[in-house]
Amino acid sequence: MRTFNTINETQTWCRDHKRQGKSIGIVPTMGYLHAGHLSLVKESRSQCEITVVSIFVNPIQFGVGEDFEDYPRDLHKDSRLLDEAGADALFAPSIREMYPPGYNSYVEVSGEITEKLCGRSRPGHFRGVTTVVSKLFNICVPDMAFFGQKDAQQAMVIEKMVRELNFPLQIVRVPIVREADGLAMSSRNVYLNPEQRRQALVLNQSLQKAREAIAGGERNAGRVKDLLCHTISTSPEAKIEYAEIYDAASLADVQEIDGSVLVAMAVRFGTTRLIDNLIVEV
Ligand code: PAF
Repeated sequence: MRTFNTINETQTWCRDHKRQGKSIGIVPTMGYLHAGHLSLVKESRSQCEITVVSIFVNPIQFGVGEDFEDYPRDLHKDSRLLDEAGADALFAPSIREMYPPGYNSYVEVSGEITEKLCGRSRPGHFRGVTTVVSKLFNICVPDMAFFGQKDAQQAMVIEKMVRELNFPLQIVRVPIVREADGLAMSSRNVYLNPEQRRQALVLNQSLQKAREAIAGGERNAGRVKDLLCHTISTSPEAKIEYAEIYDAASLADVQEIDGSVLVAMAVRFGTTRLIDNLIVEV
């Protein structure tokens, strides 16, 4: 696996492969890789001839008081995992490389899709995500980009950006990977103490209860939300930031559950903020 730290060498290497007719898949990450990230690499390798993984803890998608400084990092281990997983290249730039002094260009998707859920609780977050992802697309010239369904809203926002700004590539969403007990894999799980880790199981449990209720005929979104909140609140450490049901394609409000809906939540356990979601089709 090749490792690059500069935009220039990454772009040159990717363009060379493009010229040779190779298809390129990109897996953008912030590192501290787990099985969820490796499933993205696997998917990219199955669909593209070349897989480039980026590792960059992107400061502009973190708000004031969020965990940018503390975000877990282990580039050495990540590099070994990617090599074993068969990635062709790792792009791990510095902050200065991505945002040199005087940097002033941003990409923003506006409207309902970035105003709800994480967009409401983390102002500016998606602007940071779409900016860095646009830069990565321009650097790595991918044919396909792979994102985890765990960040469902992020995937929606990036899909909309790609559509509306005519990026010549396809976005592929890869299903959530869960621990054996149901907790969605996340680099932030490492922050949880053993008791919080145990209580965090309530996220997936509440999603399963919502799924069962809808499968059993419940169509009132308000009642399903109450069920979600009630189930999450059985964990004393859980502080709900949001637990919502929206249209899965547009994030439009839903009163009566119909078609495809996104059941999504962000919940804090101590200072650790976890997200999880489920798409339900009726
Ligand atoms: O999902 C993430 O890890 C990040 O938001 C991403 C897409 C790598 C952009 O920094």
